[in-house]
Amino acid sequence: MKIRSLCFSLTLILLFAGIHAATLTVKNNCPNTIWPATLTGGGAAQLSNTGFELASQASSSLDVPAPWTGRIWARTQCSSDSSGRFTCATADCGSGQVACNGAGGAPPASLAEFTLASNGGQDFFDVSLVDGFNLPVSITPQGGSGSTCTTTSCAANVNAVCPSELALKGFDGSIIGCKSACVVFNQPQYCCTGEYNSPATCKPTNYSMIFKNQCPQAYSYAYDDQSSTFSCTGGPNYLITFCP
Ligand SMILES: *[C@@H]1O[C@H](CO)[C@@H](O)[C@H](O)[C@H]1NC(C)=O
Repeated sequence: MKIRSLCFSLTLILLFAGIHAATLTVKNNCPNTIWPATLTGGGAAQLSNTGFELASQASSSLDVPAPWTGRIWARTQCSSDSSGRFTCATADCGSGQVACNGAGGAPPASLAEFTLASNGGQDFFDVSLVDGFNLPVSITPQGGSGSTCTTTSCAANVNAVCPSELALKGFDGSIIGCKSACVVFNQPQYCCTGEYNSPATCKPTNYSMIFKNQCPQAYSYAYDDQSSTFSCTGGPNYLITFCP
């Protein structure tokens, strides 16, 4: 009995010693309130915080376990209707609440994507416009090392150059998001599906080039191999800034 409980305690201590956590700080540099959201991938448990309100110029920290795979995006122009149902004009997750509870955001949504390693191994991160664009966003490692352990961003406002066939318009007619050609036309050459399901066959299109020209560091389509993935070792924290 004593030996058993000793073994159990040792196992717990080893488990906790192996758990490394990273802090993701989310900053709202936009002029308006945004509602950031998190989605944990790979079948792992969701973070305790899957969505929150963030006033202009405010910051909020998220503790994530490592290893962790997930994404962060921000919803805009959110409100609750008379029955209390919460919805957003862009990147809504359909939960009806501020928390997304494991649901993703409806495109178009600019994404900050992470694959964080345990124990100071190699992290990967990128900004993705594969699901379209709603807000400028940057990711800045805080600490860590590596030749691409640097800020990556989509700092431009793609909405300002979005062609009308891709535009998501708000109530007042202004463009509040720019959809991907895949979402709008649902064709294999834009979605990198079917015979286009490989880096060799899925090439930039006139539509993906609109995103790439504005944001050269961000993924503009699924097999975009021009730049795009950044990496750090040493278990840094990360700052995610909307409207950097
Ligand atoms: C992109 O190419 C398609 C097919 O050739 C064409 O119909 C469309 O007008 C082009 N759009 C832009 C924005 O260049």
